[in-house]
Amino acid sequence: MNQTVNQTLNPRHDWWKQSVVYQIYPRSFQDTNGDGIGDLPGITSRLDHLQQLGVDVVWLSPIYASPQDDNGYDISDYRNVAPEFGTMADFDAMLAGMHARGIKLMMDLVVNHSSDEHEWFRQARSSRDNPYHDHYIWRDPKPDGSPPTNWEAAFNGSVWEWNEPTGEYYLHMFSRKQPDLNWENPALRAEVYDVMRFWLDKGVDGFRMDVINMISKPWNADGSLPDAPVVREGFLQPSFPMTCNGPRLLEFLREMREQVLDHYDTITVGEAPLATITQGRELTNPETGALNMLFQFEHMDLDSVGGTVGGKWAFKPLDLRDLKATMTRWQEALAGQGWNSLYLSNHDQPRPVSRFGDDGRYRVESAKMLAIFLHGMQGTPYVYQGEELGMTNVAFPSIEDYQDIESLNMYRVATEERGQDPAEVMASIYAKGRDNARTPMHWNAGANAGFTSGTPWLKLNPNFAQINAAQAAEDPDSVLHHYRRLIAMRRVHPVLVHGRYALLLPDHAQIYAYTRTLGTGDSAERWLIVCNFSGDGPVFDLPADVAASTCDWMLGNYPPCEGDALHGSPLRPWEARMLRLHA
Ligand code: GLC
Ligand code: CA
Repeated sequence: MNQTVNQTLNPRHDWWKQSVVYQIYPRSFQDTNGDGIGDLPGITSRLDHLQQLGVDVVWLSPIYASPQDDNGYDISDYRNVAPEFGTMADFDAMLAGMHARGIKLMMDLVVNHSSDEHEWFRQARSSRDNPYHDHYIWRDPKPDGSPPTNWEAAFNGSVWEWNEPTGEYYLHMFSRKQPDLNWENPALRAEVYDVMRFWLDKGVDGFRMDVINMISKPWNADGSLPDAPVVREGFLQPSFPMTCNGPRLLEFLREMREQVLDHYDTITVGEAPLATITQGRELTNPETGALNMLFQFEHMDLDSVGGTVGGKWAFKPLDLRDLKATMTRWQEALAGQGWNSLYLSNHDQPRPVSRFGDDGRYRVESAKMLAIFLHGMQGTPYVYQGEELGMTNVAFPSIEDYQDIESLNMYRVATEERGQDPAEVMASIYAKGRDNARTPMHWNAGANAGFTSGTPWLKLNPNFAQINAAQAAEDPDSVLHHYRRLIAMRRVHPVLVHGRYALLLPDHAQIYAYTRTLGTGDSAERWLIVCNFSGDGPVFDLPADVAASTCDWMLGNYPPCEGDALHGSPLRPWEARMLRLHA
């Protein structure tokens, strides 16, 4: 059970700053009953893996009752467990198992929208007079009968779906089975807060809040919603810029904080597409904000032509200088004023070793380098299941092998409505599709990688014979052992948690180098992190104050170099060095 903390707004506990979070995508983690779908008893059976990894918190993607149109991000009952994942008793056993190992649990809170099969929506759509009608967002057609706005939904098509019984459209930013909830309605907000208390009173430790910065819509004074600016002639228009960071967002989240979060000792992170550093500072400010951290997307959009608005499918290679500029902006903006989440990976993103590293010859080296790069920064690091093994993207031969609603809808629209070449569309799914991260976890080299004794709901990545947890546990040089060492270091070196960040070599195209400094003057502790984002052997010239130092080798992804680690010793392919400096 949570202790109830002081009922005033401050001070807030900040154990979550020292934590490392591990994300579990339950469908793909561990199946125990042979139906090919991961389940809660499966998670319970794998808690030793998490404990040995050393993580402090689990973020569990949705396990609630759901028709699974978007793999559980469409919830039909916020207070029950989906039968394919198990029972509430299974949930309680899993939570007790985590707590017994000192691991906290963060639930996924999906309250920008529900499922259309939620009882609220069944009622709401039945008549305009139903008490639940105002839980959702309804509009009349335009005078010419067309949908109320020109917004395109995240999974293609219009955000508006016609509802015959009431003769209106309802809004859905994602699939038509995910109607948006109406946060303008205080009764809806009260229901959400009740759901949160239900789980917190069961003992969960916090929430990851799904697309939480989309809950406040930009209403006009007359109750209509504005059209989006036309950036693609003849098509529907990007809708995220219209709904992200809306006018009442902070107000709603402050209310949530006052009514719920401040009465428990929690960890919170809000998923926030299109969030800027200004919004990041505002929302995560410990005094005047509402959440501990955001998942901002700027670094996830650098390898798309046109970023989030242009769409993720049009990919381009990452320019390391863009990554430096973006990460540095967030590191500097939130220092002392908020807190960063640190992630390269989750259930919506391709595998980082394939995306930013080399998943061929230098898979192990580049996966380890990316880990040092990320965990060396200021913020709370997130590890997505399989990242700690260096799992890679997958390229299944046929669209029939894919399951993700986003990829399937995109493929259909691109090939059938826009006449694109199917091979090109498959290439973008290989690079960016969400199923890359959702293939089942690799536990061992046995049948189905130890994930299931049945037929897995999504095919496995065929490379599981080489990349799996059992093999990695045996090999002291594995990516897994590297993550264990890196995570353990955070516990004993506060400079990794609290140290100030400063970028070096901003214009170097292959090397990302930065320092972390804790304290001031002679007693300051200063670390240097140098990462080679290439398969070459680049050299570097450090600024004079760093170059004048000597150093201790703290961690790397190769044996310590022969020469001086600070001077003249070129980096090996995808090498990362973590060095403690002495003035
Ligand atoms: C978030 C989730 C994603 C889901 C979407 C709609 O982006 O991470 O998986 O499809 O919201 O709920
Ligand atoms: Ca199962």
